[in-house]
Amino acid sequence: MKKTAKAPANIAFIKYWAKADAATRVPKNNSISMNLSDMYSICTVEFDASLKKNEVHFLDEETIKSQELARISDALDKIRNIAGSVLFAKVVTKNNFPKATGIASSASGFAALTLAATKALGLNLTEKELSLLARTFSGTACRSIPDGFVEWQKGTYENDSYALSLHPPEYWDIADVVAVVTSKMKKVSSTDGHALAPTSPFYELRLAGMDAKIANLKKHMRDKNFTSFGRIVEDEALNMHAICITSTPPLLYWQPETIRIMKNIALWRESGELESYFTIDAGSTVHVICRGTDAQKAKSYLEKIEGIEKVVINRPVKGAQLVTEHLF
Ligand code: PMV
Repeated sequence: MKKTAKAPANIAFIKYWAKADAATRVPKNNSISMNLSDMYSICTVEFDASLKKNEVHFLDEETIKSQELARISDALDKIRNIAGSVLFAKVVTKNNFPKATGIASSASGFAALTLAATKALGLNLTEKELSLLARTFSGTACRSIPDGFVEWQKGTYENDSYALSLHPPEYWDIADVVAVVTSKMKKVSSTDGHALAPTSPFYELRLAGMDAKIANLKKHMRDKNFTSFGRIVEDEALNMHAICITSTPPLLYWQPETIRIMKNIALWRESGELESYFTIDAGSTVHVICRGTDAQKAKSYLEKIEGIEKVVINRPVKGAQLVTEHLF
């Protein structure tokens, strides 16, 4: 059976940065995100008795790194074991945005793979089971399974660390206007970054403030209080990057253009022209969070800043879905 799934990337308002258990990707803290309408992966999977090994193709890339291939093969093995199958699979996948620049390509990619591969083997997993499974392949992939605004509950062990929808996509009209600063891949992967986090002298302090920060953010989301929400989002991004910058060795994901955008956002806010807030994942890309009604304005402002490669408006959207158009 051939199945194809489409899954969104997601932007974290509260970041996952450090694992409680590296092997199972159980995180140190809960995180909160929004699924992105216009940055997504599509993945087609077919298990086939004539294959002697897994066959994996990325439509947008000529070569696949051996670690990437190993990660996808491990995921397929795990799903095959759950279904009690011995068949190998053909996998074709594509992203509509550049990888490893601070947009969660492993989140959308592994969420789409999880849904397509389980369905291709006739499994009908619940949303919770899909989220648990996707987490084991890429932590943030668990947040691309449920709809809209999502919380990943860290849990205490492998089988209770998964993501749930807090609000459906239509709940709140906000936008993430993504400013891609460079499509070059970052040098240090987020997997390595998670492992370095505890070397920062500020790491324990970050974790100590986390529960209160999450409770406040959720309250402002419930109240749709955009200003208070935005302040926490920006503060949290700086907090996570403070950990990165003070890790040993230090990780500075920003480019000069990243800072230029951060400075502009503050100016737009101070002048009353545009109320928006930045957040940045593990890369140079800036996510500009604004009211949905301001999204076009934010895009046109960003396009005037030097050094920006691409600006994409994203609205909140559903999580991973099956689609009928296959990639092969
Ligand atoms: O899933 P990973 O290992 O790529 O982790 C990335 C984590 C951040 O994007 C930096 C933050 C987050 O919660 O998305």
